[in-house]
Amino acid sequence: MVSGYLRKKISRHFTKQTDLIFHNKIPSYQKIEEKFEDIKEFGIYLHIPFCNQICPYCPYNKEIYNKDVSENYVKAVKKEIDTYASFLKNKPVTTFYIGGGTPTTMLNNGIDEIINHIYKQFNMNCYIHMESHPNHLTKENLNTIKAMGVKYLSIGVESLQDRHLKAIERPYTVSEVKKSVERAVAKNFECVNIDYIFDLPGQTKTEIEQAGKDIIKMGVDQIATYPLFKFPYTKLGKEFQKKRNAVATMFRRRSLLKIFENIFYDSGYERSSVWAFTKKGLEKYCSVTVPLYLGLGASGGSYLKDVFYVNTFKVNEYIKAVNKGKSPAALSINLSEDMQMAAWLYWRIYETKFKKSDFQNRFHTSFDKIYGKHMKLMNRLGYINNGSDQISLSDRGTYWIHAFEDFFSIDFINKLWSREINIPTSAISDHIIFKFKSSLNS
Ligand SMILES: C[S@@+](CC[C@H](N)C(=O)[O-])C[C@H]1O[C@@H](n2cnc3c(N)ncnc32)[C@H](O)[C@@H]1O
Ligand code: SF4
Repeated sequence: MVSGYLRKKISRHFTKQTDLIFHNKIPSYQKIEEKFEDIKEFGIYLHIPFCNQICPYCPYNKEIYNKDVSENYVKAVKKEIDTYASFLKNKPVTTFYIGGGTPTTMLNNGIDEIINHIYKQFNMNCYIHMESHPNHLTKENLNTIKAMGVKYLSIGVESLQDRHLKAIERPYTVSEVKKSVERAVAKNFECVNIDYIFDLPGQTKTEIEQAGKDIIKMGVDQIATYPLFKFPYTKLGKEFQKKRNAVATMFRRRSLLKIFENIFYDSGYERSSVWAFTKKGLEKYCSVTVPLYLGLGASGGSYLKDVFYVNTFKVNEYIKAVNKGKSPAALSINLSEDMQMAAWLYWRIYETKFKKSDFQNRFHTSFDKIYGKHMKLMNRLGYINNGSDQISLSDRGTYWIHAFEDFFSIDFINKLWSREINIPTSAISDHIIFKFKSSLNS
């Protein structure tokens, strides 16, 4: 209850609104076309909602792979592409990210067809970033992935100790996953990223140190080290519901992350986002920080300046809607200028450095006028270095400012995603509200 009250207060301070209100009144394609009149370029996110197994900690939208469903999914996604392309054919697409679920479940099963269609229908000015599962990275599949045009590849390694891999039900051993990563590294992608989850139950500092050293030996270009987020609607989240001590957790994670920071900095990596470290001089593998994007597929989210809308999470509903010529979008939220500014700041903080002039260019008002006071305070706390144009976060600042932001974002994801996958949300938050009218599409 206290946290709900605080969320409302802080939300009002930054966005002048206490509640985030989602509607089932979604923007028509005509409205979307109008919005694009003053959007110069955009990113594309494609969601592949299939996996070969369901991991107990995973919050993402996915179901077990089924060949028939995936064939229908390919047809539906191509139709969704055609609808957008009818009015966006010539706008440059500057980032393309394929996430999931597990995109590599559809290797040789239609993903190439979707990618070719995207390249045919849009003005693509970018390479592909794609997530993959270690068990899919055979020599042959890696060749296929390269031939599809993927230059930035991410691998869900998750842990480098057999006892933890077993506890989180990953279907491979440390020795197997290392071989997969080494095969991928040998393929000369622009960037190979591995995802690693830390702060697993019972994980020791020695294990983190060992994992850090092993990661360096594997020669990957980037490491994303996420703490284990316990989403209440996942199997693992449910088990941990009663054992929460949020403050102790935050301090423990900080000390574990510090071990990684020391190892990665000493080995020539630099911080490229709150959780990621990239080899100096390389362009990072990145998923979430593009300013404006269209989301394709079930649960694909689109952010177009003053509106965010998200497609239905249910694969069958998505296919049905698209086949009937309807928009598959299920929910939308209108974003005031203050909310857009707060969202901009959220993602720039996630990237750990940004320029005030970019804010000025986007919002036509001075960054210092809106956030100057907040930055002064952060500077005094040693959280940021506040230059005349560039703002860089210190390691301490990166961690604690993001922990503060998580207070909102995890709550936001819980509420929105739980609702979409039909799980009661009343216990989670009270500042995110769903207001539904009977008519869809405005
Ligand atoms: C879509 S998955 C990656 C690709 C592929 N599905 C796999 O599992 O190998 C995205 C990544 O999010 C991270 N992730 C998923 N659930 C998480 C959680 N509860 N806490 C922290 N990280 C999580 C994992 O590192 C995972 O690799
Ligand atoms: S972690 Fe990856 S494989 Fe596991 S359920 Fe999530 S998306 Fe699927």
